[in-house]
Amino acid sequence: MSVDAGTSPRPAAHRLAGLVEQITALDGPAEAVAGAVRGIIKPGRVKDALSGSWLGHALHPLLTDVPIGAWTSATLLDAFGRDADRPAATRLVAVGIGAAVPTAVSGMTDWSDTTLSDPSVRRVGAVHAVVNVTALCFYSASWWARRSGDHRRGTRLGFAGAAALGAGGFLGGHLSYGRGVGVDQTVFEQPTQDWADVAADADLLEGGLHAGSAGGEDVVVARVGGELFALADRCSHRGGPLHEGKLLDGCVECPWHATRFRLSDGSVERGPAAYPQPAYEARVRDGRIEVRSKG
Ligand code: FES
Repeated sequence: MSVDAGTSPRPAAHRLAGLVEQITALDGPAEAVAGAVRGIIKPGRVKDALSGSWLGHALHPLLTDVPIGAWTSATLLDAFGRDADRPAATRLVAVGIGAAVPTAVSGMTDWSDTTLSDPSVRRVGAVHAVVNVTALCFYSASWWARRSGDHRRGTRLGFAGAAALGAGGFLGGHLSYGRGVGVDQTVFEQPTQDWADVAADADLLEGGLHAGSAGGEDVVVARVGGELFALADRCSHRGGPLHEGKLLDGCVECPWHATRFRLSDGSVERGPAAYPQPAYEARVRDGRIEVRSKG
């Protein structure tokens, strides 16, 4: 039996996500909201805390476990539990509501950094947020109904919240696994283990940055205080070109969202990036700059 992959339909959920990616009417309001978020939460400690720079891992995916787990557990108790389980279900709904707030704020900061150069990602993120806020509203109404003694109504509202939660979770998964939001953008790079030519030594002035290629990977070389440094050029956060950034206090600052990576080892001095930058050794041989992986 043969399978004609060329005519196989994409799964319906994938096609739905593709349709959301094409809703251009979202661009204006989405950029207005994203700009406001970036204006309120600027690069610094708060943004680092919300992005997961301190943790070395994107924070939002971890936080989502709490409301999803609590609300899903409440829904299962509503569906299959006994009357004696009602107080536990009500508490679980409350836990989910409390956890949803920091989860939403961390997601908003991540979303606000999705760039206009890839507006389809921002559109999906906007719908993801709206659907999840809808889930939060349903569960909040559910909690209120339960507290008022109308558990049956609270259960129905909880089921509606679960449906919205599932849709929002799918779009969140599409953003992460399908579009790479929150993923280390350098994860598939394979820094060369052998010395590789990058540029002429004369092309890199003191205090300058220069882009090149080593072993098929993009790198940026810098000269500070007469010393050579080299990192992967594609920013681990959202792929910004570090060679277009600037040098500050032993770091290179990404031109897109101002993450600062230490030149010496690629570690994150300031977020929002959560992942370090691959670092290279650098030397000059016969008037040429060469690099090889430090790993
Ligand atoms: S792409 Fe966002 S800080 Fe570099």
